[in-house]
Amino acid sequence: MNTEQNTAARVETLLQQMTLAEKIGQMNQYSDFWEVTGPNSQAGDAEMKLDHLVQGRVGSMLNVRGVEHIYKLQKLAVEESRLGIPLIFGFDVIHGHKTLGPIPLAEAASWDLVAIEQAARVAATEAAAVGLNWTFAPMVDISRDARWGRVMEGAGEDPYLGAQVGVARVKGFQGEDLAANNTIAACAKHFAAYGFPEAGREYNTVDIGTSTLYNVVFPPFRAVVDAGVRTVMNAFNILNGVPATANSQLQRDLLKGAWGFDGFIVSDWRSVVEIVTHGFAADLQEAAIIAANAGSDMDMESYAYIHHLEAAVVSGAVPIAVVDDAVRRIVRLKFELGLFDDPYRYCDVERERTMIYHPDHLAAALDMARKSIVLLKNQDNLLPLSRKQEKIAVIGALAVDKTSPLGSWRIGSDDESAVSVLEGLLAYSQNIRYAQGGDVFVGTTDFREEITVNETDRSGFAEAIKLAQESAVVVMVLGEHGFQSGEARSRTQLDLPGLQQELLEAVYAVNPNIVLVLMNGRPLAIPWADEHLPAILETWQLGTQSGHAIAEVLFGDYNPSGKLPMTFPRNVGQVPIYYNHFRTGRPAVAEDVFWSHYIDEANTPLYPFGYGLSYTTFAYANLSVEGIAGRSIKVSIEVANQGNRSGEEVVQLYICDQVATVARPVKELKGFEKVELAPGEMKVVVFILTEKELGFFNNEGMFVVEPGAFTIMVGTNSRDVLSADYRLA
Ligand code: GLC
Repeated sequence: MNTEQNTAARVETLLQQMTLAEKIGQMNQYSDFWEVTGPNSQAGDAEMKLDHLVQGRVGSMLNVRGVEHIYKLQKLAVEESRLGIPLIFGFDVIHGHKTLGPIPLAEAASWDLVAIEQAARVAATEAAAVGLNWTFAPMVDISRDARWGRVMEGAGEDPYLGAQVGVARVKGFQGEDLAANNTIAACAKHFAAYGFPEAGREYNTVDIGTSTLYNVVFPPFRAVVDAGVRTVMNAFNILNGVPATANSQLQRDLLKGAWGFDGFIVSDWRSVVEIVTHGFAADLQEAAIIAANAGSDMDMESYAYIHHLEAAVVSGAVPIAVVDDAVRRIVRLKFELGLFDDPYRYCDVERERTMIYHPDHLAAALDMARKSIVLLKNQDNLLPLSRKQEKIAVIGALAVDKTSPLGSWRIGSDDESAVSVLEGLLAYSQNIRYAQGGDVFVGTTDFREEITVNETDRSGFAEAIKLAQESAVVVMVLGEHGFQSGEARSRTQLDLPGLQQELLEAVYAVNPNIVLVLMNGRPLAIPWADEHLPAILETWQLGTQSGHAIAEVLFGDYNPSGKLPMTFPRNVGQVPIYYNHFRTGRPAVAEDVFWSHYIDEANTPLYPFGYGLSYTTFAYANLSVEGIAGRSIKVSIEVANQGNRSGEEVVQLYICDQVATVARPVKELKGFEKVELAPGEMKVVVFILTEKELGFFNNEGMFVVEPGAFTIMVGTNSRDVLSADYRLA
């Protein structure tokens, strides 16, 4: 309690007083008694958990809701146990707590790092107000496979964008002072390569090459470690046959060693138990030993450390130094959070009451939401709609859904708390009539259960078709239920679930003047819609303010500025499909069949990475590339707004290292800038490429910058670019 000492000294003073059992207690994390976010922990453990809290044998709790409950548990630990070490309370505050912003994949589509940081700031403020000190976010897993449900939780397929977004979110969560009562510790997850499950199937085997590991998977983790993220969560998967939770190379040699990470590693939910399931340990005792020695500092809900680590230390299987290192890392964060100085600093019922759903938070969520929307098609400028537009039909069950827009990671928020699309539209116009078109989902809102899709009941079609016939324009809101993406929600198809495509075509047959509003947690394959419909808006799951943001864009109060952070395929058979692919040995179309292609589908995506339209048009000209000091390259481009309304454009910079000692992708994002341009305005956008952007990791994990021919590209997306050659000395 000696605040005169610095944190390191206070940590040592405390460590010297702790028994082995108390040290191991700090490495032990329990979920609350009735909330689980994984395979269920037996309710019967509540007694054991309470006993351990009083005995000082618990370091952290997760899934505890609200100040009152957190205060009660903190009081047990602080006032009943021998040393009174405070608990750290973690929760999945993924894109907000009560007030929800857009799902992280949607946020990434804004390419607006300031807005993304602000969204995390709001999330931290509300989380801290309800007593929490730690979020299990940002998820910085890169993924190229839209079948995997958790693509909604990351920043898409690109490591450069993923790193920038990850850093912005960590800054937003942690702020400048972790001891402040509106900041929380962040957690980069899932270390590592969880986003590459075979066949896109959740929790499946990961088997990827060294070059992908070093040049795609690791960079976002390294970026957030360098930005000061205080915790990391490991992954469920094996990597080269070794479970991440048991992987000393990953956790000790690389993360804590080479990268100098000084925070702590928490296991994922019961991932220590899963070391046994993977066949990497004979039993939980052996798994506990392996996990601790591999650098997993805290055990989430496996009850492995609490039951087996003491004997392991006594037998010498786990050196006491391993335990001491883990405990130092854990209690250091508690000092940094100010929990020793005031364990109840986050337990203020008045702040809890006033901060959740605060108007400033709702405004920030709306700002983030409108910036996350991507305009995919707008033939003959059907959009924006005029406020005077007569006879607008709104069709689709998702148009009135007030829960799906919250996405799947909404366990801290409230069902039915989103503004629906219909509510947003009605705030603009009364010339609107609604028809559901039939149930799309028949199901539960319990996130532990599967969603049932309506595949048979067409009784709602007739009413929707009749309304479309009587209307001038039809806004169809189609897509996925909030629980059809997210953890444990992989799909083998990327189409519109259930009877939605059938309903769309039936409505189109009587009125082709359709604006499709997509509400989804992953890229979808919608080739029919792209071919037939005049307008398509990608609105993801935009959180609490969803309906207002969508209405603002549909009626033109906001000019859409989003760009896809993940490639949209034509066909699920193309997956994994991504822009920064390799050439292959046969990239070019040949006279014969012997080149890299399908016999039944094009190679190209439906919409490429970085793609997004605007209600105005932008022209790119005069790309200039020149070498400057220190092997850096100055790149400049003129971007002009050729339309009659202002708009924001994400100017994207790509490179290709033509020849290297490890084959390099056909292009890699290495810079972007979101610029606002008034009608007729032109700006010169300048990028500086340094060795940091020009180099890559070789298969020994060494970062190298090799001389030779580069192509420098700048454009409005990863496909439509101006390019210039450059020779690096
Ligand atoms: C889940 C997720 C992880 C989450 C943790 C706690 O299984 O994999 O991302 O933070 O358990 O809920």
